[in-house]
Amino acid sequence: MTSDTARPLDPQVASAWLRRWDAQQERYVADRERRFDVICDTLCHALAGCDRPLVLDLGCGPGSLTARVCRRLPSARAMGVDNDPLLLALARSVYGHTAQFAEADLRRPGWSALTGLNSAVDAAISSTALHYLPAETLADLYLELADVIRPGGLFINADNLYDEQPMIAGIAAALRRSRVASGEDWAAWWQAATRDRELAGLVAERERSGAGDGDHRVSAAVHEQLLRRAGFDQVGTVWQAGDDVVLVAVRRQTVKH
Ligand SMILES: C[S@@+](CC[C@H](N)C(=O)[O-])C[C@H]1O[C@@H](n2cnc3c(N)ncnc32)[C@H](O)[C@@H]1O
Repeated sequence: MTSDTARPLDPQVASAWLRRWDAQQERYVADRERRFDVICDTLCHALAGCDRPLVLDLGCGPGSLTARVCRRLPSARAMGVDNDPLLLALARSVYGHTAQFAEADLRRPGWSALTGLNSAVDAAISSTALHYLPAETLADLYLELADVIRPGGLFINADNLYDEQPMIAGIAAALRRSRVASGEDWAAWWQAATRDRELAGLVAERERSGAGDGDHRVSAAVHEQLLRRAGFDQVGTVWQAGDDVVLVAVRRQTVKH
């Protein structure tokens, strides 16, 4: 960590960037808040009776979903994981009082050790993040996830999961584009963040970290196949609007690799 980033980010500055982040993400996910609600509803249902459940948010960014989980399940212990130091600094500044955040690259086997968690997780969740990873990397990620989640625990992945049939995928994408918010997009948000002197140290740190973007367009069918292979025995969609999908997987009682 550099001396610039050791200085905590002003919570007001961070809150303003976070509001702008949420608006920017709504350009890509038409029903983002509804999708967050579905994830929280699923957690409430599946973790009812669980004392202080441990929930891990993969690719948490600045913590939008992590924070909503803390609000809906006040007894939960939530941890967000991401490899982007700038987004993590926003998360820690605004939501650090309710959740923990850890820097780890989900592409690297052994990422879970960097969270410092020493007990099994009741649920892992993810929102608009795992499309950054190709199928081969997801296969490894899911194997590690099956070791991290307790038997009977859940994995909930909300993302744009494209249909393998090109015409269906094209229609779903066009329908989504017709419904998303207008305004600042991903590139404009990052350009503006890069110009903010308050974030200069974090921007430099991000450049060094190898954090970036990408879309590997892995379909829901491939996610399901990889999850079953990794040790999840029930996998299905609980909510969908076009190609915007919430996929739930239940960790098998005994994992056989
Ligand atoms: C589009 S953002 C979504 C962030 C947040 N989940 C949300 O819904 O606002 C995708 C996130 O995935 C993270 N991410 C992408 N690849 C990653 C990787 N290899 N390891 C950890 N995080 C990653 C990015 O840094 C970014 O924060």
